[in-house]
Amino acid sequence: MSIIAPSILSADFTKLGQELKDVETAGADWIHIDVMDGHFVPNISYGPIIVEACKKATSLILDVHLMIEKPDLMIPQFAKAGADLISVHAEACPHLHRTIQLIKSIECARYKNSENRANTNIKAGVALNPATPLSAVEWIIDEIDFILIMSVNPGFGGQTFIESTIQKIKELSAMIQNSGSNAIIQVDGGVGLETIGKIAEAGASSFVAGSAIFKTDDYKATIKMLRDKACLVDETLA
Ligand code: DX5
Ligand code: ZN
Repeated sequence: MSIIAPSILSADFTKLGQELKDVETAGADWIHIDVMDGHFVPNISYGPIIVEACKKATSLILDVHLMIEKPDLMIPQFAKAGADLISVHAEACPHLHRTIQLIKSIECARYKNSENRANTNIKAGVALNPATPLSAVEWIIDEIDFILIMSVNPGFGGQTFIESTIQKIKELSAMIQNSGSNAIIQVDGGVGLETIGKIAEAGASSFVAGSAIFKTDDYKATIKMLRDKACLVDETLA
């Protein structure tokens, strides 16, 4: 399974609606929305109103990555705006278990009227900065839907992939298997044609790519190439 999630941080904001439609047509799976508060990370991006705008422009899953302090205060607003998945940083959550329970307790707007789904709530992820050890998720791994491994220091698009991430993904993959958790691994930062193969091989299945997609002219060709490189590994391992 390979989930390609374009990060709108690198999109052209003068035509965000069109950019969203274009990546949807091009075969993207999720839309990754990087929320930055200028405190947890040294940059400010956007808040719930952009999530709401994305919801109107695309039917894809909205994957909201909160790089903010005190996320508990904002989670209900992002949920209301249309988030399907919400990830918070372990480094920003002194009561991570409580924060995860909060996310998972909120009904997802997409599934509100669906009768044939066992779980209609928002899915929860925990993000880890490059220097944060995997032990930060060890005691919550059964509670979460995904772990977001940052492969750059969060705050900006277009940075170089940090190579030690590969070993970290491999160890996380083993940790997930040993625990019996259903969590999947998402990788964010410096994901592109050069790196996606080894990231997939290490055990990730959700790939966030900002500049690697939005800075190209042909989104469809790029997403296909990214998926092919990730799936090639899927097939080799099968
Ligand atoms: C970094 C963000 C990433 C970023 C990825 O703080 O979380 O999602 O947009 O950008 P690229 O793919 O350009 O490294
Ligand atoms: Zn992100």
